Amino acid sequence: MKTRCPAAPLGLVLFGLLLLDGSVLFQTYAVDVEVKDASNITCLYAKWMMNISITYESESNGFKKTAFTLPEQLTYDGSSCGNDTKGPVLAIEFGKDHSWVISFTKTADTYQGSISFTYNTNDTELFPDAKKKGLITISANYPERPVQLNTVFSCNDVDFIEDDNVRQDFWNVSLQVFLEDGFRSSNKTLCDQVTVPTATVPTTTVPSTTTEPNDTTSSPSPTLPPEENPATGKYSVVNGTAACLLATMALQLNISQKEPLIINFNPNTTSARGSCGATSAVLELKDKNNRVVFVFAARAQNAERYYLREVNITVAESTNETLFAGNRSLNYWDTSRGSSYMCRREETLVVAPGYKINIFDLKIQPFDVEDGQFSQAEDCIFDVDNFFVPIMVGAALAGLVFLVLMAYFVGRKTHRNAGYEQF
Ligand SMILES: *[C@@H]1O[C@H](CO)[C@@H](O)[C@H](O)[C@H]1NC(C)=O
Ligand SMILES: *[C@@H]1O[C@H](CO)[C@@H](O)[C@H](O)[C@H]1NC(C)=O
Ligand SMILES: *[C@@H]1O[C@H](CO)[C@@H](O)[C@H](O)[C@H]1NC(C)=O
Ligand SMILES: *[C@@H]1O[C@H](CO)[C@@H](O)[C@H](O)[C@H]1NC(C)=O
Ligand SMILES: *[C@@H]1O[C@H](CO)[C@@H](O)[C@H](O)[C@H]1NC(C)=O
Ligand SMILES: *[C@@H]1O[C@H](CO)[C@@H](O)[C@H](O)[C@H]1NC(C)=O
Ligand SMILES: *[C@@H]1O[C@H](CO)[C@@H](O)[C@H](O)[C@H]1NC(C)=O
Ligand SMILES: *[C@@H]1O[C@H](CO)[C@@H](O)[C@H](O)[C@H]1NC(C)=O
Ligand SMILES: *[C@@H]1O[C@H](CO)[C@@H](O)[C@H](O)[C@H]1NC(C)=O
Repeated sequence: MKTRCPAAPLGLVLFGLLLLDGSVLFQTYAVDVEVKDASNITCLYAKWMMNISITYESESNGFKKTAFTLPEQLTYDGSSCGNDTKGPVLAIEFGKDHSWVISFTKTADTYQGSISFTYNTNDTELFPDAKKKGLITISANYPERPVQLNTVFSCNDVDFIEDDNVRQDFWNVSLQVFLEDGFRSSNKTLCDQVTVPTATVPTTTVPSTTTEPNDTTSSPSPTLPPEENPATGKYSVVNGTAACLLATMALQLNISQKEPLIINFNPNTTSARGSCGATSAVLELKDKNNRVVFVFAARAQNAERYYLREVNITVAESTNETLFAGNRSLNYWDTSRGSSYMCRREETLVVAPGYKINIFDLKIQPFDVEDGQFSQAEDCIFDVDNFFVPIMVGAALAGLVFLVLMAYFVGRKTHRNAGYEQF
């Protein structure tokens, strides 16, 4: 079997295939696709497994049934993010001229796909002795019910669509279309969840003509400083199919531009994205309209070490006011390559005058992540528990030894002097 490498025809589509665990028993492949637009922003993310079974008329007698799963070799010609009038499309071609295409449309606050599946009964491998030879197309809606925008449709159970002579089984589905700025949502719409009645539609659709499509900020902005510490979240950046950057942290912004502003990132609504390179890596965390970008870099003079070089903070408190600060010459979290950086106590990163980040419970690894696990950690140098206390104890011991020695020499000296006087 040939392994498929991620490729980007026309620079528009990025995809990869994942061979699942348990392939010992069944050669079942998960399709794992991201469709990106011209500026590399993901508009469609989908991962699922499927079975197709087709009943067809045979030459000899009556009907036959053929069942198959999508093969390893797929092409994605015709996939696109669409334009103002046409939604994203994921097009899959496989085998002998079979194609499976799903086109998505958006209503006020939901999205749904429409499948157009074309199979070719000339394919004698799948349709031996088919009576009618040629292309047959069927269509069906999927998911069955429209999905709330800005949520990931998630369905682990087997869910099927049956139409004419074709049955399509889907399972372990994870799907999001019309991603907000390319970010996958952390909110899910589960397949067994009844969708919100359509009566709620008018509430969020009032200014659909404004330039800001984000109506997530319609709730009052968090101008009152939260008293409590932020909650700890786990984030990762995936490169193809494997995690290449891992982070655990609780994040709080302290902006004192005008009125003091404390913003806690809520892990339940924070999404992560970024990129991983050989000498630099990016982690971007976004909670509603607030985002922080961390850029890590290998040291120019010593490639064996990395550090936090750049941070950008963007806070959109209201649609007409955006606060921004960036600093490209920071020098935090110096760590050796192959290790993660860890700090249990609160750390404050000064990004620019009036822009600070408070971080609690930090563990981060932007490079050399293996098997989705953190490598050994280097602790922050002033960590009270791990470094400062031993130094204090050591200093106290050294002081004690010094005092004992002093007492000894002083004692010896006076004794000797006394002795000389004797003679
Ligand atoms: C999109 O990203 C890929 C790698 O992720 C890169 O190779 C490509 O040049 C980028 N294309 C654009 C238009 O930025
Ligand atoms: C998929 O198809 C294979 C072969 O027909 C069958 O054995 C398997 O049970 C199916 N799986 C699901 C989840 O429908
Ligand atoms: C959108 O895309 C469709 C199909 O690709 C095309 O027919 C249509 O002209 C496009 N519309 C605009 C406004 O670009
Ligand atoms: C697929 O879903 C089943 C539950 O239906 C779950 O047990 C299994 O771990 C999932 N497999 C993958 C690879 O996600
Ligand atoms: C936020 O920054 C201000 C000004 O530097 C400081 O007085 C205040 O203690 C900080 N608050 C927190 C929660 O870090
Ligand atoms: C996140 O969600 C969990 C479970 O729904 C909840 O217990 C927790 O309080 C939430 N955290 C925050 C910061 O809202
Ligand atoms: C940070 O912000 C500056 C100014 O807008 C921008 O030029 C830079 O590309 C940003 N860096 C990242 C990593 O987003
Ligand atoms: C900006 O928002 C403030 C309230 O947040 C409002 O008082 C002000 O009129 C707005 N300015 C403009 C130009 O819309
Ligand atoms: C960036 O951070 C460095 C180190 O903390 C500081 O010296 C410098 O003034 C900062 N630059 C800006 C533009 O705030």
